[in-house]
Amino acid sequence: SSEPHAILKQDYQAAQDFYHHILLRTQAGVSALEYLHQRQLTDETIEHFQIGYAPDQSQILWSFFQEKSKSTPELQRSGLFTESDQGQFYDRFQDRVVFPVTDQSGKTIAFSGRLLQPPPPDRPVGKYLNSPETEIFHKSKTLFNLAAAKTAIRKQGEVVLFEGFMDVISAYQAGLKNGVASMGTSLTSEQIYLLQRLTHRLIICYDGDAPGIKAAQRALKLLQETNLEVGVVVLPGGQDPDEFIKKQGGDAFVKLVQHKSLSPVAFMIEFLSQQYDLSNDLQKVDFLNSALKYLAPVQSPVEQELYVRQLAERLQLSVTAVQQELADQIKSQK
Ligand code: GTP
Ligand code: MN
Ligand code: MN
Ligand code: MN
Ligand code: MN
Repeated sequence: SSEPHAILKQDYQAAQDFYHHILLRTQAGVSALEYLHQRQLTDETIEHFQIGYAPDQSQILWSFFQEKSKSTPELQRSGLFTESDQGQFYDRFQDRVVFPVTDQSGKTIAFSGRLLQPPPPDRPVGKYLNSPETEIFHKSKTLFNLAAAKTAIRKQGEVVLFEGFMDVISAYQAGLKNGVASMGTSLTSEQIYLLQRLTHRLIICYDGDAPGIKAAQRALKLLQETNLEVGVVVLPGGQDPDEFIKKQGGDAFVKLVQHKSLSPVAFMIEFLSQQYDLSNDLQKVDFLNSALKYLAPVQSPVEQELYVRQLAERLQLSVTAVQQELADQIKSQK
């Protein structure tokens, strides 16, 4: 075949159909389907993302592939199985809801599997488990939902970047179809490159908790090196997008993303402000000095003045005083 990895991709397609069938059409899938419905996913969404369930059995996919007379080396290469020291093969995904991950043309190249219940602290397993790196799956060059979102990204001139699979899926259900997620890891320059070919604008919509805010800062650093126009959405109360949608509704979420994203500088200042007690005058001064470090490099005078005014208002200082402080800081840096 002209496609070098066609056979492995066929294996992933077969596994996807198998898991999807188990979820929707078998007794073994009932609890997983209940779980997804309880998370408010509709049947249309489950269909769209081709979600499946790998049941609580150690060799069901292995047996299924044995019946298809697949060669052992091929199954070894697929990453769909783990091999014991005794040379026994076991299904990698057991008792997990499985989300297919596709390449850019929409062919499945990996799964991410989620446990129905959070793992007990004494069990060394993650809530999510990804397929390993294989000849077809390179985590750092893959974005969940990129192939399906391509048309919407182009049409809207914008991509929304999430942390989690469930965030992409909930956003889709809320009508936001230009969402993608990195594979549970920090954003990479390869992933940015893929997005830059489709659009000039990117909205970061990570979890509103401390790890999410840290991750957004890291992403912003990488994005500084690009010509992408960037916005950051901060979700209230440490929520993630999926939780926000559940509580506030899909329309409120779409509005937030479309109208309430912060510029990178405003986001950095917002984040910074949370580390100070602004009712204390000394801390106010410290905060102002730190915040001005983010304003000093802003090229556009209009944008700079805008931030100065916001800072002045927030700290109940005069615009002139803040402007003077900024000018002093710029001078001392030269
Ligand atoms: P839900 O609990 O299903 O809503 O997941 P979440 O997306 O909110 O998870 P969380 O915010 O904890 O983590 C964000 C992303 O990091 C997930 O979507 C996964 O891609 C990844 N992740 C989380 N936990 C694990 C884990 O135990 N192992 C791996 N490999 N990735 C994880
Ligand atoms: Mn189906
Ligand atoms: Mn999180
Ligand atoms: Mn989350
Ligand atoms: Mn979540």
